Amino acid sequence: MTSLISANGVDLPTRRLGQTGLRLPVLGFGTAPVGLSGYQDPGFDQKQSERNSLSALDAAIDYGIKFFDTAPAYANKIPTDGWSTDRASERMLGQALSNHGSKRDQLFIATKNMFDRMDAEGIRKSLDHSLRLLQTDYVDLLQIHGIIAKPFRADNWRNFITDEVLETFLQLRQEGKVRYIGVSGYREGALSALIETGVFQVVMPQFNYFYRGAEYELVKLAQQYGVAVIPMRPLTGGLMQGMLDEFFPGQKPSANPFKVAMKYILQFDCVSTIPVGMRTAREVEENVRLIQELEQEIGLGR
Ligand SMILES: NC(=O)c1ccc[n+]([C@@H]2O[C@H](COP(=O)([O-])OP(=O)(O)OC[C@H]3O[C@@H](n4cnc5c(N)ncnc54)[C@H](OP(=O)(O)O)[C@@H]3O)[C@@H](O)[C@H]2O)c1
Repeated sequence: MTSLISANGVDLPTRRLGQTGLRLPVLGFGTAPVGLSGYQDPGFDQKQSERNSLSALDAAIDYGIKFFDTAPAYANKIPTDGWSTDRASERMLGQALSNHGSKRDQLFIATKNMFDRMDAEGIRKSLDHSLRLLQTDYVDLLQIHGIIAKPFRADNWRNFITDEVLETFLQLRQEGKVRYIGVSGYREGALSALIETGVFQVVMPQFNYFYRGAEYELVKLAQQYGVAVIPMRPLTGGLMQGMLDEFFPGQKPSANPFKVAMKYILQFDCVSTIPVGMRTAREVEENVRLIQELEQEIGLGR
């Protein structure tokens, strides 16, 4: 099994990224909490959040985490119309990568399109903006961002992901601005149909200990088609912690709930890396430790 030895001497188990020929450490970094103001955090303080996030990203690179998932929509919200264009997550990730001086080809950077512009010009403009903020001339993975108001089901995904969208993503790949393409979303049926198109190397369904819809069809198809699954909200996006606090206030659970959630999602061979949302260097360190424990207990490499 190939492993990545980081500056901190940590040995993270790795997994295949579908049929790309690449391997990634099983622990990845989801940057929704880095840029999205108030994301599962009612006491949000922007300056404090930026400081914490930059040290979390720095610690992650030191620990040998390679996969970073960002998006234009992970931004500071403005109360009037809901979304701003400051793209705080992409900006901070670009800043962290440049501060750290890490070699670009040793990292795997994933972003998405701005989901309110699903046409060729909008997708291209969005990617060019991402590349400027990320301070790079290519991204490893560009994903169709699945958060949309329109219905997006197995029988109508073409209303949302048109030929123009697919062709633009494929052209960007041919031009070398994007190495692989993926699609994210909350509808397993639609994502399963999209796996069958053979166009995507990666799918990102919502998939965790609580939200298990992908178990029934999607993981089997992903396995069959050699498509990597990168689950969004792998640690339940704060839901599990919220429920424990609600039902068992002040009590320490007998098992670490984050470890239980990691164990659940990493049982699936097609799950490649888990983009855990992390706000602080302490959380990064804790999650590295949990992954190492699980590696000892059950073996995580695939
Ligand atoms: N494509 C899409 O539409 C989409 C949608 C959603 C998410 N995503 C991706 O999936 C990533 C992960 O989802 P997520 O960030 O919502 O949730 P998550 O990874 O399931 O859970 C993250 C939360 O768990 C807590 N946590 C993590 N490690 C911890 C530790 N060691 N100790 C205590 N608490 C810990 C943190 O909460 P606190 O810091 O608040 O305690 C953190 O914000 C996102 O960042 C994003 O990259 C994609």
